[in-house]
Formats: sequence, structure tokens, C-alpha cells
Amino acid sequence: MNKNIAVVILAAGKGTRMKSSFPKVLHPVLGKAMINYVVESALKLKPFEIIPVLSHQKELVEKHLTDDFGFIFKFAHQKTPLGTGDAVRWAVKHLSENIDTVLILSGDVPLITPELLNNLMNNHRSPVTITTLELENPAGYGRIIRDNKGNILKIVEEKNASEAEKSVKEVNAGLYCFDKTFLLKHIEKLTPNELTKEYYLTEIIDMAVSEGTPISCYTEKEGWRLLGINSRIELATATKYLQDTILKNHMDSGVTIINPERVYIEKDVLIGEDTVIYPDCHISGITKIGKNATIEQGVIIKDSIIHDNVHIKPYCVIENSEIFSNTVIGPFAHLRPETILEEKVKIGNFVETKKARFKKGAKANHLSYIGDALVEENTNIGAGTITCNYDGEKKHFTHIKKNAFIGSNTCLVAPVTIGESAVTGAGSVITKDVPDNSLAVERSEQRIIENWHKIKKRIKK
Ligand code: UD1
Ligand code: MG
Repeated sequence: MNKNIAVVILAAGKGTRMKSSFPKVLHPVLGKAMINYVVESALKLKPFEIIPVLSHQKELVEKHLTDDFGFIFKFAHQKTPLGTGDAVRWAVKHLSENIDTVLILSGDVPLITPELLNNLMNNHRSPVTITTLELENPAGYGRIIRDNKGNILKIVEEKNASEAEKSVKEVNAGLYCFDKTFLLKHIEKLTPNELTKEYYLTEIIDMAVSEGTPISCYTEKEGWRLLGINSRIELATATKYLQDTILKNHMDSGVTIINPERVYIEKDVLIGEDTVIYPDCHISGITKIGKNATIEQGVIIKDSIIHDNVHIKPYCVIENSEIFSNTVIGPFAHLRPETILEEKVKIGNFVETKKARFKKGAKANHLSYIGDALVEENTNIGAGTITCNYDGEKKHFTHIKKNAFIGSNTCLVAPVTIGESAVTGAGSVITKDVPDNSLAVERSEQRIIENWHKIKKRIKK
């Protein structure tokens, strides 16, 4: 832990430009709230404390952060969002005695990395360090105004900028590093901006310049990492940059992505060498895919573990499940939470599983629902088999032992056990346990009525 570092995360703004009833910093970038990215990078610095500044819907953001990261925060409450300077004024009240460096981050600048923050800290050679980037289209950002020797003079917000200032392409990223004593001395001296009546944190730069305090600057080369998100369009732009980087990293480490324009893969997904991802796949959450797997068109995978050599045919949906090596599933299979498929299992089209374990070599090839069940080795489940696991109040368990053969369209009314090598007749409704090696048939005997058409005519008269 860095005993002298505090991280402040500004997240109290209304986010008006998002046109949303949710707080801006909770909007997801590739499935994860923007502010989570900022917290994750901040945590890598092992700071002594993290102070998020909240106001607009603060209960929502506070609960979200506490649920996701535990009680590691000191929340500051900005009564009314009167600008970034005012937000920091509320934050500094929470700084601990031992802190001497304050890193200020923005909840709406999520694509930062721990390396970027380290670079900012390493450039902190004077009481205040700012972070800048160059943008072809700098609209919306504070412009960095320098003298002809390159010394920073001020940061001018777009709203306050002259035409000449607006043409400057170096912009303020909104990330700063301050010596605590310098910050505390100046933060109370901020004045509201004449035009917007907001307290700008950037006014501290003007103060530093006028009293001759040197200003350090870290300029990030990968400018897109400092994109601020203020609108839905900026949200989409940032998401695209992050997605492209994630896909590039996977391809660099040996994953084939057939059409990178048409897949969605979140940041924490791991994929092994020689795995092939077809178009329109959506892979999210804490998912790990092994080596040499094939994930065909339109597959959706969330929070799951897929081992080596698994083949997933088109349009399967897999959530919170584990699939072991050499298993084949789909097309159109639905693995709901807590499904475990051991090696060489085969799950075919229109099969739904939930809280079900299929042991090695078991098969359910067509049109089945298998829920709350254990299916042992090499058992074959016929088309249309249903585990009737729910009686309207409780869920019940079905146990099918190894080498069993479940005839097509069997209803297994749980709780029920099918013995080893047992067989059920097609169309049976099984309500009692079936002993090992036996056949259970539950259906009325077939009747034959000969000359049926003549009989039918007679009945009609
Ligand atoms: C700010 C900077 C601008 C910079 C840009 C980079 C100022 C005055 N401007 O502008 O120079 O180029 O970021 O993205 O600092 N916030 C609060 N309380 C408030 C107002 C804002 O906590 O009262 C938070 C917001 O939630 C947000 C962050 O501060 O996370 C930045 O605020 P925002 O309104 O987005 O400022 P920008 O206009 O983007
Ligand atoms: Mg912003």
C-alpha cells in the first residue's frame, strides 16, 4: 500500500449530455460500468484511500461500487454539482493526515490503464501535474494554452475559448496529480466562472502560473485512452477503441477471429491459442475459453469456462456453465446456469439444460429439457425427453445412472432415479424409480381396429 497516495474520482456530475435517467458513470463500456474501469486502474497503484465524489443519484453509485469492490471507499458528497473544482473541495475534506500526493481521476474517462497512471505519477516533478492528449477534433475539451517557449499558461474550456484557442489540438484529459499542501492551499481560492458560474478545477493552473509555480505535464501518446465520455456517441466511440484493442490482443496471442467487425468480446475474457471465433459471437463476463476450441456463428457465452477442443455449433446460449474437452454442443442449445458437461458429452439442437451435470460421453441430441439432474457416463437421452423438475412449489432432482437409455418423449417426474443400464419406453411418464438393467414402460397398449373407414361411415349415419 502506498501510504502517501490518495485517489479522488470525480463522479458527481449530472451527465446531462447522456440524456439518461441513470448516473453517467454507471453506463457500461463493454458490459462494465465506466467507473469500474477507473477504480480497477486506481487499485493497481495500491493507494491508501479512494475518494469517489458523488452527488447525482449518489445512493445508486455508492451501492454499485460497494457491491462490486467492497468497503474500500471514502465517499464524498458534493451537495450540488457546481463544477469540477467544487467537487474537489468536497473531496479534500476526507483526505487522511498521512497523505502527501493526491491523484485526481475522472469517472467519465474510463479507458485509462495502470501504466498510464504510473506515467502520470512519474512525471509529477512539481506541485501540480496535468495530463494532456492531442486530438484531431478537440471539440468539447479544455484546450491547453502554452506560450511560445511551450510553458503552460492556462486551460481554457470550450465554452470560454476564443476562435484561436478553439483551434488548439492539445487538450486537458481531466487527470491530475497534486502535492496535497499545494492543493489544499489553492482549492479554497477558486472563484465561479463568469460565464457558467461553475467552479473549474482548471483555475488552479491559472493560480500556479501567476505565482510562478512550475507545472508538469504528462502527454499520453495513445490519446484514445483518455477519451472523456459525455454523450452516447462518445460512449460508442470509446467502446469501439477498447473492443478493437481487446480483439487485437487476442489475435496477437493466436486466436483466429474471422470477422473482427462482428464480434463482441469483453475485457476480462481469456481465450487460448488456435481457438476460432466466428462472426456474431457475444462473449462476456468472467469467461475462459481454452485452446483449439471452435465457437461458431452467433454463439452467446457469459461467465463460463470452456475447455480445450470444445466445438460449439451456431446459435447456442451458454451462461455460468462449464464445458470440458472434446464436447460438442448445438446448434441452438441453451445451457443455463450451473450446467456442467464433462468430456465427450454431446448436446444437440434445441436442448435446454439447467443445474445439470452430464458425465463423460453422455448424450442428449435433440429437443430436451434436462434440469436439476445428474446424467451419468454414456447414457443416451432420446429426443423430446423432459425432466419434470418443478411441482409448482419446489424443484426436484433426477438421477440417471450410467449406460441408461431414455426412450424418446419420456417424462421423468422428479424426484426419480433411473438405474444403471435401465431403459424407458418411448412416451412413458416415469413416476417411480427404475431398477438397474430393467425396462420401464408406461403407456396404454396399442389397439388395432380394422376396416376403420367403413366403421366410421356407419357411426356417422
Ligand atoms: C472536464 C475539464 C476539461 C477536460 C475534460 C476531459 C473542467 C472545468 N473541465 O470537462 O478541461 O478537457 O474534463 O474529459 O474541469 N463532476 C463532478 N462534480 C461537478 C462537475 C463534474 O464530480 O460538479 C465530475 C463529472 O461527474 C465527471 C468529471 O467531473 O466525471 C468531469 O466533469 P464533466 O462535466 O464531464 O467535465 P467536462 O466538460 O468533460
Ligand atoms: Mg467529461
